[in-house]
Amino acid sequence: MMELILSPSILAADFFELGKQIKMVEEAGVKYLHIDVMDGNYVKNISFGLPVIKSIRSRSNLVFDTHLMVVEPIRMLEDYRDAGADIITVHAEACSDLAATISRIKEMGLKAGVSLNPGTPLDKLDPVLNSVDMVLLMSVVPGAGGQAFIPSTLQKIRDLREKAEKTGAVIDIEVDGGIYVDNVMDVLMAGANVIVSGTSIFHGDILENIRKYNEKFRQYYEMVQSK
Ligand code: DX5
Ligand code: ZN
Repeated sequence: MMELILSPSILAADFFELGKQIKMVEEAGVKYLHIDVMDGNYVKNISFGLPVIKSIRSRSNLVFDTHLMVVEPIRMLEDYRDAGADIITVHAEACSDLAATISRIKEMGLKAGVSLNPGTPLDKLDPVLNSVDMVLLMSVVPGAGGQAFIPSTLQKIRDLREKAEKTGAVIDIEVDGGIYVDNVMDVLMAGANVIVSGTSIFHGDILENIRKYNEKFRQYYEMVQSK
């Protein structure tokens, strides 16, 4: 059975309290931390980059799930590795040579992910599906937190799971944007196993929010086991 992983997105954190909030996530037993890097070019907004990642790397053992929303990320992969990324995910739409970008990430010894915007079809994955560790399906248009989940993502997740099974690709399917405790079960049932959430984790009581996700994950495992 696929391991379910929660990846809290610090984009929704209170940056004045960033260290404290990351510690809470870590103490709650979460494994991943989702780090949204935006360049003001591939997406309109600018978030944060290397100095922030370096600072938190020195104090955290979480798996840094680094989502690069930047144009031609191949230019800066070494920098993100050196800053402490464990997984680097790039956007298929932002790479002129996607296959080369993914091989470079793998050669550096990191896990490689490829991301697709809601409007980008799955066949964009064909050149790399057998070499990536993870596919990140955006369930909102990237660039900002707090948006509503796009329902057609569910079918896209199912199609991707089927495509992976057919081609023998062993991948995690990560979904990012507009996920809350109330709709996460749909995302899991569709075949995703890595869940990104910013707003629904960092807004309000972080520990309580994580507990609610863990409870959903437990329900999912129970449901799958009893089948
Ligand atoms: C959007 C980012 C997401 C975002 C998710 O561009 O990639 O990771 O932070 O945030 P919520 O959970 O608030 O939709
Ligand atoms: Zn993200």
